[in-house]
Amino acid sequence: MSGEAGHARLKELMHRGTEFLGCEVAILGGAMSWVSERNLVSAISNAGGFGVIACGAMTPELLDSEIAQTKTRTSRPFGVNLITMHPDLSELIDVCTKHEVGHVVLAGGLPPGGSIDRIKGSGAKLIAFAPALALAKKLIRSGADALVIEGMEAGGHIGPVATSVLAQEILPHVSHDIPVFVAGGIGRGEAMAAYLEMGAVGVQLGTRFVCAHESIAHANFKKAFIRASARDAIPSVQIDPRLPVIPVRALRNRETEKFAAKQREVADLLDRGEIEMAEAQLQIERYWAGSLKRAVIDGDVETGSVMAGQSVGMVTREEPVAAIIEELVDEAAAALESRG
Ligand SMILES: Cc1cc2nc3c(=O)[nH]c(=O)nc-3n(C[C@H](O)[C@H](O)[C@H](O)COP(=O)(O)O)c2cc1C
Repeated sequence: MSGEAGHARLKELMHRGTEFLGCEVAILGGAMSWVSERNLVSAISNAGGFGVIACGAMTPELLDSEIAQTKTRTSRPFGVNLITMHPDLSELIDVCTKHEVGHVVLAGGLPPGGSIDRIKGSGAKLIAFAPALALAKKLIRSGADALVIEGMEAGGHIGPVATSVLAQEILPHVSHDIPVFVAGGIGRGEAMAAYLEMGAVGVQLGTRFVCAHESIAHANFKKAFIRASARDAIPSVQIDPRLPVIPVRALRNRETEKFAAKQREVADLLDRGEIEMAEAQLQIERYWAGSLKRAVIDGDVETGSVMAGQSVGMVTREEPVAAIIEELVDEAAAALESRG
């Protein structure tokens, strides 16, 4: 246990983050499709962090009821994560406005024209992902209220650059102008403290929360996390330059092996002129459709996509959200205290 000085320093370093989010601890529960629903989101907010609903592919009606259900479980603030390429983005923004959601996180590429103004016009704060310094500056100019920088150690869809490098590239240049949260590969409080000292106002964690008691992820999904080590969480690999694959970090399983074979098979068909390019690309793009749900909800961890970050090696047991947050906070405070 660390003493008061470490906790006081931590509070000071997180102050802008906690003010911005309206919570006690500047830890965002990164939105995870199928996992970040009413139970986990409310548990994170109730424990002093900031839960974020993953809208993913939800319809506006489903998002409407998910927000309403989350509100019955917590009176504290929480956010909603919307994917920019969702065909009903506009209606989803309306649902957030109707519920007076205080913070909207836009993921999945640069926000389409008008969406930033509509979100901000509703009174909500807009949090956007910045994958590079130039884009961070562009997002600030476009009106983003806060940024998340997420490195390739993270679970789910990833960019090519490590968290430690993004933090060095982006934080010194923008962290005075706008609150920045760091995500990807954070498993312990010491790392959280380090990013705060570099200028971040808080952090975002996904992988560490998957095995929370309150997470509805299937027991098989949680077991796979508890067994895995960092090196089991691998990005999907593109075999052929003609067939684009958006990299996703997930635990290696039977299907990740088969995906490589599928790409080779489709590339062979292309070479022999037996398939059109558009059809070939569609087959690859659609390959993983529905696979995260299959793993998270149905527990099929062999053919489903077990999205996980490299910090999965630090997930060793199922425990309550409050214990995870308390442990992170204590580790961060102890690290800061030891610096004197
Ligand atoms: C199972 C899983 C599903 C995810 N789904 C989403 C998503 O729907 N939208 C999103 O913006 N990020 C998604 N992420 C990324 C998380 O929000 C978070 O940024 C990431 O997990 C942080 O890195 P970490 O896994 O190293 O903690 C997902 C991550 C995981 C592990």
